Amino acid sequence: MTAPNRDQWWRDAVIYQIYPRSWADSNGDGIGDLPGITARLPHLADLGVDAVWLSPFYTSPQKDAGYDVADYRDVDPLFGTLADIDALIARGHELGLRVLVDVVPNHSSDQHPWFQAALAAGPGSRERARYLFRPGKGRFGDKPPNNWPSLFGGPAWDRVTEADGTPGEWYLHLFDSSQPDFDWTNPEVADEMADVLRFWLERGVDGFRVDVAHGLAKKPGLPDLEEGSVEMLSATANAPMWDQPAVHDIYRRWRTLTDSYSPPGRDEDKMMCAEAWVVPATALAKYVRSDEMHQCFNFGILTAPWRASDLREVISDSMDAVAEVGAPPTWVLSNHDVVRHATRLGYPPAEGPERMFGIGADDPQPDVALGLRRARAAVALTLALPGSAYLYQGEELGLPDATRLPDEARQDPTWERSGHVIRGRDGCRVPIPWEADRPAFGFGPSEDTWLPQPPEYADYAVDRQRGVEGSTLELYRTLLRLRKDHRLGRRTLTWLEVGEDVVGFELAAEGDRTVRVLTNLSAEPVILPADAEVLVRTRHEDGPLAPDETVWLRLR
Ligand code: GLC
Ligand code: CA
Repeated sequence: MTAPNRDQWWRDAVIYQIYPRSWADSNGDGIGDLPGITARLPHLADLGVDAVWLSPFYTSPQKDAGYDVADYRDVDPLFGTLADIDALIARGHELGLRVLVDVVPNHSSDQHPWFQAALAAGPGSRERARYLFRPGKGRFGDKPPNNWPSLFGGPAWDRVTEADGTPGEWYLHLFDSSQPDFDWTNPEVADEMADVLRFWLERGVDGFRVDVAHGLAKKPGLPDLEEGSVEMLSATANAPMWDQPAVHDIYRRWRTLTDSYSPPGRDEDKMMCAEAWVVPATALAKYVRSDEMHQCFNFGILTAPWRASDLREVISDSMDAVAEVGAPPTWVLSNHDVVRHATRLGYPPAEGPERMFGIGADDPQPDVALGLRRARAAVALTLALPGSAYLYQGEELGLPDATRLPDEARQDPTWERSGHVIRGRDGCRVPIPWEADRPAFGFGPSEDTWLPQPPEYADYAVDRQRGVEGSTLELYRTLLRLRKDHRLGRRTLTWLEVGEDVVGFELAAEGDRTVRVLTNLSAEPVILPADAEVLVRTRHEDGPLAPDETVWLRLR
């Protein structure tokens, strides 16, 4: 019998997402890299987060910014070397930060040796059986095997040319055509990926964020999609490529594996978090049953409109669903795939969620000041909630999306594949401003940045905010410190009836005073109880709680 790890650090961890291309560049080529990250890690220790999650830095042709992996066991020269990642992990641990890496098991790059071998080996080969090759339909086999669309636009199938120069089989790619999907019914694929996990666990990582976790198993026979479309934001009910029962067998095996690296009785659990765009919350909760993953992203709060009733509903539904299986809820407002919340929330509530996937210069522009006010209120709301929270790099600066990027600068394959309809995700991936008066706002030693930084990013630079009362950076530091001091992530939540347009709840803990949290989504100020101590508020004024403001109160 092994003693369970009592503390299970991941249950209330705050995890900061670093998108390596865009955080810090050490050598001036305009692309962020691992030595750049290592040098800037003290920023995160100072901010007060518990862990970092790194988006992919593996060998990759970078057709999907690294989510197209050609070698799962090496670092792309763009980002550094294996020695650099070892140094990053070691420095992170020294600073008390856990380090999670991204694993991309649904597909590889078309430059992966396995796919190259599959192309060379031809139909019916063992090499092809690692991916989803199928003959085409129609008399000449010139129609795709089924009607599935790619999430980046266009069909999910591409036809290959066989070695003899004739048009041949088709292969499935749910994303870019350079990202062929693996066949997870093939034990070779499962064994290889388990070995990749072991490789990184041996190097000392603390866990994994699992890319497209709901996509690995496809419905047997790859039947046509009945109707509707494949959407990034919700697994269309019964879609044959999403949320198939067999995915859970994969994660059960992975859990056994990660548990074997989690020393019993010590607070060193290796953890996994699923990126699964699955609805409803009860279906998503299956990914975090006690013998599967530890966490799953809860995108409900990210897609919810800024309305009290919607927020209350999504918070309580997501807490109930994971409580059933004993997992902690998670909260995420932004990541590298969606428009930053400071920008989304700068639109009227119904429009914000519609503008998830990129804004162009000729689109309606957000109200930046309103967006920032709401973003501050939103993060204070989510950081008070029980469970674990994810922060996306730059949100601690109140950073908005780059909403006027010139279309020629865009790099996300979505823009091309959608026939210039969906702008894509470049706006949230622009390099971070560190020092307002340095080249590239301190991102690196040269003026170069792989996406252009809007001039107004200077105002958001870390050095313009550090130590400045009322700045968003200082607000985040305060929230994170108080959250830790009062162990808010481990408390029990009770809803309060405080009016239609106000979200209110109390957080109780044995041996400590109750904390009350109020977020005002109405247009009117809300009077605060006279006898409560204000721990933190997001608008830094005295008096009643302003519209779009959150307060944490400590009851006497
Ligand atoms: C996930 C990633 C996204 C990537 C896609 C394909 O959704 O977050 O950035 O493009 O998977 O790997
Ligand atoms: Ca670089």
